[in-house]
This record gives sequence, C-alpha cells and structure tokens, in this order.
Amino acid sequence: SNKGVIFDLDGVIVDTAKFHFLAWRKLANNLGFDITEAQNEELKGVSRVKSLEKILDWGQVSLTEDKFMEQMALKNDNYLSYISTMTSRDILPGVSKIIEFLMENNVPIALGSASKNARSILEKTDLYRKFDAVVDGNDVSKAKPNPEVFLIAAEKLKVDPQNCIVFEDSQAGVEAANIAGMLSIGIGDAGVLGEANYVFQDFTGIEINFIKNLLEK
Ligand code: BG6
Ligand code: MG
Repeated sequence: SNKGVIFDLDGVIVDTAKFHFLAWRKLANNLGFDITEAQNEELKGVSRVKSLEKILDWGQVSLTEDKFMEQMALKNDNYLSYISTMTSRDILPGVSKIIEFLMENNVPIALGSASKNARSILEKTDLYRKFDAVVDGNDVSKAKPNPEVFLIAAEKLKVDPQNCIVFEDSQAGVEAANIAGMLSIGIGDAGVLGEANYVFQDFTGIEINFIKNLLEK
C-alpha cells in the first residue's frame, strides 16, 4: 500500500501520560493549588511550555520568566525520575504486535510526539530503530492541535497526509490529525476522543484485520 502510520508516544506506546500528570500536579500543589484529571485531558499532547501556561492560568498564578523556566525544569526533572527505569517491558499491551505487523508489510511508521523526551524513551524501550522517522518536541515550533508534527512526519515518510493513519490518546492530537487530513484513531475513552474516526480503549482491542482493511482502503 501507499499508506503510512504515525504513532503518538505518551499514552499510546507507553503509559507515561500518568507521569506527566503526577509531575504537573506536584508543580501545581507546590504553587498552592490543585489540578483535576478532567483538566489533565486538556494537557495531554500539549507542549511543556503550553502546559505550564494553562496550569498557571487555572491557578491564577503569574511567574517571572526566570521562575517559569525554573518550574519547567523542576517538572521535567520530576518526570524524568518516573521514567528512569523504563524498559521494553513498559511498552503497552498490543502495541508491539501492530508495529511488527506494519514492519513485516513494509508499511512505514513514524513517531509524532510533542515530547522533548521522546527519543530517549524510544531508546529505553528499544523501539527507536524500528521507526522510519521520528518527529518530536525538538523538531516543531507549533504545538498540537497544530498539525505541524504530523505533517513533518508524513513528509519524512514520503506518504501523502491523506494516506496517513494516526494513533493518538489526546484531544489535541486527534484534532491535529484531523486538521492534517489524516485518519485518526483514538486510544482511550470514546467520550473524550469523540472527534476521532475510530476509538479503542487500548491496543489489545485492535485486530490485525482492522488495520489490514484500513491499509487497503
Ligand atoms: C506530550 C504529553 O506527549 O508531550 C504531554 O502528552 C507533555 O503531557 C508533552 O507535556 C511535552 O513533553 P516533554 O517531555 O517535552 O515535557
Ligand atoms: Mg499522547
């Protein structure tokens, strides 16, 4: 086929969305307020800078530029402590089977993540060499829901955007995929990811035949 597949990382390939949340929550608590899981849905897929801006807005806290940078660094240090022991055993159930299927069928695969830690997580989980292209938070200037990250990934795969299939766990990411003209598959709660073309709770519910059919379309 002439198709390509783009995976988001956090909350799709690995269960790191919960660590981002814990680290942001700790930051908010240190500044004297709390954030909810519902608010966290709005942080998923969003860049580090944009996330902190949103959180400060919710807590009605304003910081000088120096303090802002300091909080971002603290959050990342905290996040890194959570992922320090990550290995290939932390790849979410059902993900490897689909990656192997795509590789065997010569379907190019890319990573399209907002995270600046993406490459390091791919190395830790032994996935880096399996991707034909990796586009992450270091490569883009516009955060999801801007489609930039997915459009660059498509370009690197040499696949037309309308022939790309995107796996995403975030509202911002599903929106980005839709704006890019790609087929979006939400991983998570259908109530949260209603804008996606398809939604699955996790990868264990995705049959290889379902993927085959999409590739043949
Ligand atoms: C996204 C996560 O993948 O990356 C967000 O869903 C996170 O929660 C963003 O804030 C940026 O990640 P990092 O690792 O660069 O702080
Ligand atoms: Mg994600």
